[in-house]
Amino acid sequence: MKMIEKLAVIPGDHRLASYEETAATHDWKETEKAFSWYETGKVNMAYEAIDRHTETGRKNKVALYYNDGVRKEAYSFNEMKLLTNKAANVLKDATNLKKGDRLFIFMPRSPELYFSLLGALKMGVIVGPLFEAFMEGAVYDRLADSEASAIVTTPDLLSRVPVEKLPHLKTIFLVGEDIEETEKVVDFNRRMASASNKFNIEWVDKEDGMVLHYTSGSTGAPKGVLHVHYAMVQQYQTTQWVLDLNDQDVYWCTADPGWVTGTAYGVFGPWLNGATSLILGGRFSPQAWYRAIQDYGVTVWYSAPTAFRMLAGAGRGVLEQYDLSSLRHILSVGEPLNPEVIRWGADELGHRIHDTWWMTETGGHMICNYPSMDIKPGSMGKPIPGVYATIVDDDGQEVPPFTMGNLAIRKGWPSMMRKIWNNPEKYDSYFLKGEWYVSGDSAYKDEDGYFWFQGRVDDVIMTAGERVGPFEVESKLLEHPDIVEAGVIGKPDPVRGEIIKAFIALREGVNPSEELEADIKEFVKRGLSAHAAPREIEFKDKLPKTRSGKIMRRVLKAWELDLPAGDLSTMED
Ligand code: PRX
Repeated sequence: MKMIEKLAVIPGDHRLASYEETAATHDWKETEKAFSWYETGKVNMAYEAIDRHTETGRKNKVALYYNDGVRKEAYSFNEMKLLTNKAANVLKDATNLKKGDRLFIFMPRSPELYFSLLGALKMGVIVGPLFEAFMEGAVYDRLADSEASAIVTTPDLLSRVPVEKLPHLKTIFLVGEDIEETEKVVDFNRRMASASNKFNIEWVDKEDGMVLHYTSGSTGAPKGVLHVHYAMVQQYQTTQWVLDLNDQDVYWCTADPGWVTGTAYGVFGPWLNGATSLILGGRFSPQAWYRAIQDYGVTVWYSAPTAFRMLAGAGRGVLEQYDLSSLRHILSVGEPLNPEVIRWGADELGHRIHDTWWMTETGGHMICNYPSMDIKPGSMGKPIPGVYATIVDDDGQEVPPFTMGNLAIRKGWPSMMRKIWNNPEKYDSYFLKGEWYVSGDSAYKDEDGYFWFQGRVDDVIMTAGERVGPFEVESKLLEHPDIVEAGVIGKPDPVRGEIIKAFIALREGVNPSEELEADIKEFVKRGLSAHAAPREIEFKDKLPKTRSGKIMRRVLKAWELDLPAGDLSTMED
């Protein structure tokens, strides 16, 4: 196997806590002592994230800055406590929601989204956050599977909630102006205005359900991944270790709460640590994003490779108009962080971008570039302290370094999913020999224990007896000056088993030609290896991607082989 061209190792910040020492001494039981429930036995995420800070000197500290260009607001921890109490009263008074019942939130980011999410948790209800761009079919699948009995949404999005087809759905809270209440419809804002700001929190068991995130695999219907209140132990600890947040930071996580990053590290992690969080509404633009960092003095920034690539594409001219000197620490998640992007961060932002690997199912960070660790560009880093990750073959045997295999984690970390809703067989299918959680990602480990992502297992290409990870080919293609997007699949071939086929979007102004095609093949051949060079190239205006920016290789495969493309609810427009 040929590996991605190795960029020079970038030294870690060795003033920070040593990875090795922390890994050698860490015990999750010690982390539990940070929370009052360690003594009282009573737990509730919303209390630990918000109310607790009003008793410990952070009462008037800003918890939430919100800005969507029109609304520019700031809420202290005390205001958050009172407003989430009000939201809990609004939700409770209009429903019979009990502990463990499911409530969905389907709306664009706004302060009300966060009030209702935390308010519902204060009632002990399980919250299902839905990304605002979901269409009717996707909304239906999730509400029907979970038998949700309430939803918080907006008048604009209501047409995508097929109310008549959802017999369990009893109450619809609409967040907007001049809502006409009916038997089912409740005006959220009007009720907030008059609701009491006192609420008796429903104390739950630490193993009780908290959030339900639906995620789609390469086949089958979306799966409801259930996380419990105890996930706070890992989310709190990794926010310190990996995000390196402290009391002085202004933190910005760009993920929507419809995705797990937007809850675990957009709501819970930062607020469990009493940090100030920025939530930016509205659409992406390089100008708006850079301005947010400048105007709010963002110090820690958690985003994704697609966003970084779009910022890089906007060029230095835009970047130079803003003062980004407040930034101290930058992180990435969700898809492979190409070495090219790390190079851009170091050159243009003056910071190493730290990659973090985890999944909806893991509920928290797993393999990361710990701030004090040296970064090997292209590697996801090492397992966080308290997590044992390795590479196993299909029989669950650990394999030696540099052998590509299944990225697996020893079962039992604190934020691990507790079930797949309605589907115990699916849950069981994640585990091998009762010991290993098998991620479905293919990777290898190097001699220093760093992990290198290769692709989803289903995506690994076997060409003339060689396993090729599509990611390494895509990364190489992205280094070509004329290429902006690349997706690589294996195409069945009678001789080689599979050949490598690349779908490529070119930079504006560049036209496809035979010379360019030959040049690209040669570029990969020289930069990577002959067997990893695409034998076929197809130029496209745009590649199919999920809303979180992942190239949907299964859609490319479906195009190529004329197959059904499966669940497309997470695909961008
Ligand atoms: O394939 C891996 C990829 O995203 C998958 C998990 O997706 P999701 O459940 O939506 O969660 C994303 C955010 C936690 C993984 O199985 N992935 C995630 N992070 C990385 C990654 N691939 C490469 N490098 C990463 N850092």
